[in-house]
Amino acid sequence: MTQQKNISFTLNGEKRSFTIAPDEKLVKLLRRSGCLGVKEGCDEGTCGACTVLIDGKAALSCITYAFLADGRDVRTIESLGTFEKPHRLQTALVEEGAVQCGYCIPGMILSAEALMKEIPEPTDEDIRVHMDGNFCRCTGYEKIWTAVRRVAAERAGKGVANA
Ligand code: FES
Ligand code: FES
Repeated sequence: MTQQKNISFTLNGEKRSFTIAPDEKLVKLLRRSGCLGVKEGCDEGTCGACTVLIDGKAALSCITYAFLADGRDVRTIESLGTFEKPHRLQTALVEEGAVQCGYCIPGMILSAEALMKEIPEPTDEDIRVHMDGNFCRCTGYEKIWTAVRRVAAERAGKGVANA
């Protein structure tokens, strides 16, 4: 029988405890814990749909063992915006018409957040390079990147509310 393990970490600002199998992947743990905004795509680290933030850095939760989250700060799309009060990246994506099926969007947003934390005013090249692991099967890349550019410019210029 597989030995279970207890871990705890901060999930979307709340300290949580979990019992996991040693080989459970973080994406599975997050989804069974109600974070359905974390998407499963390729399940092998190539599409970016499962991107989350661990201690502020983008991480692929499908190839991250859940036990590695022990003691860390984990954020999913659920912590950024709500339906009633969306995050500025979410509204910018809608304004740009960048959301088609929407499957890639949570991962795109979290990657963009990590990028803007690291590089507050990213160039087009920075955006492309940093987000090149986030695939959009609907191929809306230009509009997605435009939305990220807009939010980065707003933040750099005026500190837009809710961004
Ligand atoms: S589901 Fe994790 S990278 Fe594709
Ligand atoms: S909007 Fe459909 S995969 Fe990106």
